[in-house]
Amino acid sequence: MTAALCPGSFDPPTNGHIDVIERCLRVFDRVVVAVVRNPSKEPMFSVEDRVDMIRKSFGERVEVESFDGLLVDFAKAVGVDVIVKGLRAVGDFDYELQMAQMNRSLAGVETVFMPTNPEWSYLSSSLVREVARLGGEYRGLVPEHVAAALEERLG
Ligand code: PNS
Repeated sequence: MTAALCPGSFDPPTNGHIDVIERCLRVFDRVVVAVVRNPSKEPMFSVEDRVDMIRKSFGERVEVESFDGLLVDFAKAVGVDVIVKGLRAVGDFDYELQMAQMNRSLAGVETVFMPTNPEWSYLSSSLVREVARLGGEYRGLVPEHVAAALEERLG
C-alpha cells in the first residue's frame, strides 16, 4: 500500500492545499495530513480548528493529525515514509529542497513534489489572512467552511 504524508501549518487551509491533498488521493492509497501544532508564527487558528477544517473538507478519505517536533519522527510514528509537498513556483524550491534533503538525511524519508494547480499558484495562507484582515475578498480562495470561520473570527 502506498502512503503519503502532507504536512503544513494550514493556517488556514486554502484551495491550493485542498487541491494538492485531493490529487494525492488519486496517487496514493493512504493520505495522512500532518498539521504542525506550533508554527513559527502565532497562528490565527488553534491546531484543533485547523485539523477540523481539513477533516470537514475530506471526511473519512484522509487521516488528519496534529504533530509536534520533527516531521520525520511523526512520519515514522504513523508508518508513512513519503512526504508530499506542493510547489507553487521556483521561489518555493530552495527551502523545500533543503528540507527534503534534511528529512532524507535524518531518517531516510523521501519527499515528492507536487506542482500546484496554476489556478492557485499565487495563494498562501499568510496572504489569505492578510487579505481577510484588511477587508479584501477571500471567498473563492478557501473552502466555504473556512471562509465562514474567517468571517466569524474577523467579524
Ligand atoms: O505550511 P508550512 O508552514 O510551509 O509547513 C512547514 C512544515 C510544518 C512542513 C515544516 O516547518 C516542518 O516540517 N516542521 C516540523 C519541524 C521539522 O521537522 N523541522 C525540520 C525540517 S527539515
